[in-house]
Amino acid sequence: MSNKVYRIAVLAGDGIGPEVMSATMRVAEEVEKRHGVQIEWKDGLVGGAAIDAKGKALPEETIELCRSAQAVLFGSVGGPKWETLPPNEQPERAALLPLRKTFGLYANLRPAVLYPELVACSPLRPDRVAAGFDVLVVRELTGGLYFGQPKETTQTARGERAVDTMVYETHEIERVAEVAFRAAAHRKKRVTLADKANVLETSLLWRKVVRGVAAKHPSITLDFIYADNAAMQLVRDPARFDVLLCENLFGDMLSDQAAAVAGSLGMLPSASLGEGSFGLYEPAGGSAPDIAGKGVANPIAQILSLALLLEMSLGELEAAQSVRRAVAEAIREGWRTADVAGPTEKKVGTRAMAQEIARRVALGRGKS
Ligand code: IPM
Ligand code: MG
Repeated sequence: MSNKVYRIAVLAGDGIGPEVMSATMRVAEEVEKRHGVQIEWKDGLVGGAAIDAKGKALPEETIELCRSAQAVLFGSVGGPKWETLPPNEQPERAALLPLRKTFGLYANLRPAVLYPELVACSPLRPDRVAAGFDVLVVRELTGGLYFGQPKETTQTARGERAVDTMVYETHEIERVAEVAFRAAAHRKKRVTLADKANVLETSLLWRKVVRGVAAKHPSITLDFIYADNAAMQLVRDPARFDVLLCENLFGDMLSDQAAAVAGSLGMLPSASLGEGSFGLYEPAGGSAPDIAGKGVANPIAQILSLALLLEMSLGELEAAQSVRRAVAEAIREGWRTADVAGPTEKKVGTRAMAQEIARRVALGRGKS
């Protein structure tokens, strides 16, 4: 037990964010007790909640709060209430993207794992996922079409003209590729780069740079796949993938697909990392306004995001593992929120699910 006190910014945001976050805090409480990890949790406003209270989606004090913290535990932002605002003021564009850019979070890790007990939740036929499914999407997060300049709409004689720019420089590719190869070293030692090298200039540069990074990691196998084919192979033969490396937009799309194959978006955490140990951790699923406030959302994506935070930003590996074991055990023992419950299975709500997981952390149960 160390006597270090960590400081974590908690940005619950909108939709199901606040309820899954407060459920996750139940688990955090037990982690602190059981593993002697001391954390000061600092709430901040973000997204629509911040627009309502402060007039903007990412207030200066929230940025300062994040700056003063070792990591950010993020819920989700957005919802119908703010969809009529000008695009640049909407929560997703005005909070999430600037957070990624401000803190240089260029590497987005999205692990999609299908639990053996949840094979029936995958939309794929059981024989397609029988071999298991454990893919880590490593998505570039601060470049490409999301941020490239020019990005604008102008008037022309014939109407309007809109432009987004796909641009990458060597160093941007190199650093995220490094993350992918390092991750692969602890997994099945295979990196697949999804690109459109048959069409895009940026993809040619990606291939060249990623080959160079691969040369420094001789124990890892590198292969290439066109992004459209990757979409197809993710549903035909998902077990062929280990680490799937993508530029920003391809990674956005392919990570949702990988998540769906793994059964439910409600199970999937993510980590956004830059240089150093600072990171932002968030569920992959978004704010799910349709079920917000009903207490039925699956808190596991948020809870596993906490586990990623413990591991990657705080280096508290044992605490992280104990959260993951508790989640796996709760699943194994039949606890299900609505998104992953079969027709005959009993469903529990957000709090009850988190409580089951918290209880297992407290007992130090579910050793793998
Ligand atoms: C994601 C989301 C965001 C993205 C949106 C909300 C801007 O889809 O994190 O995958 O496109 O990056
Ligand atoms: Mg997305």
